[in-house]
Amino acid sequence: MKKLLIQGQNRLEGTLPIHGAKNSVLPILAATLLTDQSVLHNCPRLSDVDAACHILRHLGSQVEREGDCILVRSGNRGDCCIPDGMMRMMRSSIVFLGAIVGRWGRARISLPGGCELGPRPIDLHLAALEKLGVRIREDHGDLDCQVEDQLRGTMISLPFPSVGATENVMIAACTAQGETVIKNAAREPEIADLAAYLRGCGAQIQAAPNGDIHIQGVSRLHSGEHRVISDRIAAATYLSCTAAAGGDVTITGICSEHLSAVLPYFEEMGCRLWVTPGAVRLQTRGRLRPVRSVRTMPYPGFPTDAQSPLMTAACLADGTSMFVENIFESRYKQVPELRRMGADVEVEGRVALVHGVPRLHGAAVCCTDLRGGAAIAAAALAAEGESLLSQIEHIDRGYEAFEENLRRIGADIQRVEEP
Ligand code: EPZ
Repeated sequence: MKKLLIQGQNRLEGTLPIHGAKNSVLPILAATLLTDQSVLHNCPRLSDVDAACHILRHLGSQVEREGDCILVRSGNRGDCCIPDGMMRMMRSSIVFLGAIVGRWGRARISLPGGCELGPRPIDLHLAALEKLGVRIREDHGDLDCQVEDQLRGTMISLPFPSVGATENVMIAACTAQGETVIKNAAREPEIADLAAYLRGCGAQIQAAPNGDIHIQGVSRLHSGEHRVISDRIAAATYLSCTAAAGGDVTITGICSEHLSAVLPYFEEMGCRLWVTPGAVRLQTRGRLRPVRSVRTMPYPGFPTDAQSPLMTAACLADGTSMFVENIFESRYKQVPELRRMGADVEVEGRVALVHGVPRLHGAAVCCTDLRGGAAIAAAALAAEGESLLSQIEHIDRGYEAFEENLRRIGADIQRVEEP
């Protein structure tokens, strides 16, 4: 079994380019079903991306990777069923639903399993697609979806700005008859990136100044080429590693605007920042200060995916920090593992109180989920002594070349084989 062996307390220094965004490339890969051919650049090497490519091949597409470029040629086979095993490979597989019904008018998928973040309902996805004209029936744990006649544009008001539901509607509405308006749509940068890809394929899709997304259906999308934006959450993660372990690291190849809700917290902790449009440099200066309160919100608020990495830095601050997780029901799964390393964190429902400690100590710990796993790795980088991280497949879902990147900036981290 693969594990990560980390000797802590190396100061992190140097420059780190950031890979393409997982949460952008996944919906775009799903949307390639609507085109004959798509060429996608800056695609990260992640197990979730491999899973999405596997699903595309199952649906009849030819998928080839050359370096960071993925070429997708959609097949004509109308295999519109994603079997349970594939759906469970990746929770965000639900975003294929809009693409499949948009391409073939029918789909059969299994209800996505929950995940480490608590129940992952898809009610908003299904209600929105039904409004577009998809008849959805549950059938022995599967969802049987059938477009009556054809997809028809309509006004869809999301009760919550769900990222995945927004993406599903955007993709399905591209070839619906008439106009679709998505009100209370998600505003994450990955939404804009998906819209840019779809426009490149001939979709008529625009975001209004109030955030509503307007889509004028077209008969077909043509082939397209697109460069995926960089991964703002990976950037926030490596900055959190630097804040926790101490050092001076410059993250490049990013859009620093996408981190505008995150960077102020590093400054509140006493880090010195230099920010340009494409790069962020973070330098620690002595012991970190606590953050008064971090409340996760939909974009442009503080991103839930950056909550656990930042919490690791707060574990070492000189005082108490408060975190409020407003997006997912249970996103503090990493706390028991942090406690094994000496962290002092109290969790009550959605609130976590982090009482900073002078130091953490290495331990044998396990990764609980993608971002929680990265947070545990950040703690190991800061801890005295050796840590051995298991279940690192969680990290491989969303961080390309994780240990290579950390070694590049001075960390003592190895991927080892453990019986
Ligand atoms: C996307 O998940 C991201 N995943 C998540 O990143 C991210 O944390 C999340 O958006 C919020 O930014 C991908 O893009 C692949 P949501 P998604 O629909 O689409 C509830 C990571 O670590 N909800 O905005 O699933 C839901 O339970 C991952 O990279 C419903 O109740 O997020 C959650 O509490 C984790 N019904 C909240 O809304 C629904 O039908 C936000 O979900 C859909 C969602």
